[in-house]
Amino acid sequence: MQHTILTGDRPTGPLHLGHYVGSLRNRIELQGKHRQFIMIADAQALTDNMGDLAKVRRNVLEVALDYLAVGLDPAKSTIFIQSQISELAELAFYYLNLVTVARLERNPTVKEEVRSRGFERDLPAGFLTYPVSQAADITAFRSTLVPVGTDQQPMIEQTNEIVRRLNTTTGQDVLVECAALIPEFGRLPGIDGQGKMSKSAGNAIALSASPDEIKAAVREMFTDPKHLYIDDPGQVEGNVVFTYLDAFDPDRATVEELKAHYRRGGLGDMAVKRRLEGVLQDLLAPIRARRAQYAKDPGEVLNMLAKGCDTAREVAAQTLHDVRRALGLTYFA
Ligand code: TRP
Repeated sequence: MQHTILTGDRPTGPLHLGHYVGSLRNRIELQGKHRQFIMIADAQALTDNMGDLAKVRRNVLEVALDYLAVGLDPAKSTIFIQSQISELAELAFYYLNLVTVARLERNPTVKEEVRSRGFERDLPAGFLTYPVSQAADITAFRSTLVPVGTDQQPMIEQTNEIVRRLNTTTGQDVLVECAALIPEFGRLPGIDGQGKMSKSAGNAIALSASPDEIKAAVREMFTDPKHLYIDDPGQVEGNVVFTYLDAFDPDRATVEELKAHYRRGGLGDMAVKRRLEGVLQDLLAPIRARRAQYAKDPGEVLNMLAKGCDTAREVAAQTLHDVRRALGLTYFA
């Protein structure tokens, strides 16, 4: 079966290994087999970055470069910029009447994000309602599959509620429900082992990291704090270096041997880190090289994005037309 896929990222900083494991890897695998739309969610980024508009603007091109660098191919995936598709905003405006404020306040992802941003006292209405805008993004393309990290699962549920409610309210099958595609690996911890990798937590390795930055990040990486001497038995669970080997080392057998050796004792952190550093350098070197190539011609990247926007707009306009008609909001032949 062929799916239609929509995913996206907020352009608030360079993409990192967490994005790679959580979603980019799936997207590369899926492109060509399915119809894939990839959105740079600049409008959504405004919901919590109104104080730093320059950051959002600057990172649109950076995220596009990251996409191209990891191998997302504009010939196979439609890459576009959210704010340029005003149909998405109009859909969201109608969908807002299909959810309650209480339901949005109960959304676990929103709750957690409100807390982490200190929005308890002054919550922007746009932030509270961004799941509705996300439902507009997903349904505008009639997406059936949404590759997202585990933390975005409640967004998919909320989207499907809106879909069912619109279909029931209008008595027509206007919109289709979607399923989340959760990455096999789950979410990648930051290099400090404290929660997930994120730029704001300062525990990320960017896809565009230099060889020295990669080296330094691996050197700092959290291991087993109780593994003081090489001969001591060490713990693999919660040891970030091993978690990353699991996520990135293609040689599974060697990783299993290293784990057994570490648990037994006699294997030092430095040796394991050296292996991981090699794995990450090998993974990121071609990505960095491709990025540099595309970065030489930003005009070409913008052309690619403009074409993606045209394609995306055509599809979203059709859905908007259907939704308006179902709501009875068409008046002139
Ligand atoms: N919320 C996503 C992020 O923070 C970006 C996004 C916007 C998105 N709309 C979406 C993801 C629709 C999946 C589907 O990166």
